[in-house]
Amino acid sequence: MIRVMFDAAEERSDVVRLEVGEPSFTTPSHIIEAAALAASEGSTRYGPNGGLASLRELLVEKVRTVNGIDSSIDQIVVTPGAMNGLYSLYLALLEPGDEVLIPTPGFPNMDEMVRLTGGVPVFYELHRADGYLPDPEKITSLMTDRTKVLFLNSPSNPTGVVFPPDVIEQIVVAAADRGVWVISDEVYDQLILDDDRVHLSPGSLDSALPVVSVYSFSKVYAMTGWRVGYVVAPTALADVLRKLQEPQVSCPSTISQKAAEAALTGPREPIESMRTAYVERRDFAWRLVQDLGLEAFRTQGTFYMLVDGSRSGMSPLDFAMQLLERDGVSVAPGEVFGPGGSEVIRISLANDEENIGLGLKAVAGAIG
Ligand SMILES: Cc1ncc(COP(=O)(O)O)c(C=O)c1O
Repeated sequence: MIRVMFDAAEERSDVVRLEVGEPSFTTPSHIIEAAALAASEGSTRYGPNGGLASLRELLVEKVRTVNGIDSSIDQIVVTPGAMNGLYSLYLALLEPGDEVLIPTPGFPNMDEMVRLTGGVPVFYELHRADGYLPDPEKITSLMTDRTKVLFLNSPSNPTGVVFPPDVIEQIVVAAADRGVWVISDEVYDQLILDDDRVHLSPGSLDSALPVVSVYSFSKVYAMTGWRVGYVVAPTALADVLRKLQEPQVSCPSTISQKAAEAALTGPREPIESMRTAYVERRDFAWRLVQDLGLEAFRTQGTFYMLVDGSRSGMSPLDFAMQLLERDGVSVAPGEVFGPGGSEVIRISLANDEENIGLGLKAVAGAIG
């Protein structure tokens, strides 16, 4: 449905685009230059299934310093975006009929991926009244003898919540006690918007726990179109993931991997300035939300904000369509985020303050 909004918005030139889930920035220039140089020097061929050794070495260091995960190069698998890493994980882990616990509101592609790979998505609900935090006991009560995977996503798309370390730890331990894998999607790991908030990577807990961590260059480095993500998994599972690359994609793009290397070794300043911009936009949006009397959740990480549209009396999709037609503002309707999204719309902070302001004012006007 985000694509539906996207396509409808594409048909007009005057639309304020707040539905999209990608950074408004272009990839920092040193990354583009490094990729161009690598291409001219011959990085234009197939590479190893699981990614270039030179990139995986850098990633061992990145997950150690940023995420607190001790790993070896054999545990890292580079994939064409986190999306392909997630898909391969489900291919590797699921038998037909296996259940996967998924948050709602949550990342839309997840339940579709689970169904495509023969699994059964089972939703655990997150509510604004609870600060969109998962309840470890409720999650545990949803586990059956068919539960194979628990999907965690913090910082979370679309809620913008960052789960506190103790909540993460309780959930991971509960899953491990029942032999359930935890897939931890941390593609927004370096987009924490509050300095006093800590993101705990489940993979940094006891290495004996059944945790797989998934990361991406898309959001943090504004590299969505380069398609580079990576998985940190126990070596035996990483071996399977590498083999699964061959019939699917062969290998991730070699040029894009060279760009990813430059992202890791280059200056931090462009990356940090993008995060700072999201902090400023979140602060701006939050002030406006309050001035306009809207109900919303104050984003803690990522670049999204969930706004309650239920007072409009319309479904989020009808609300979003009307907003697009009447006000020329495009937002993501809550239905895309599963059954828990029935009252909300998501706006993206990956736009400038002027457009965020126009969008929020239109939302407030449409709610009435
Ligand atoms: C939570 C989450 N995981 C994964 C992805 C996919 O990332 P990538 O571009 O690396 O495939 C997204 C993209 O929107 C996301 O929001």
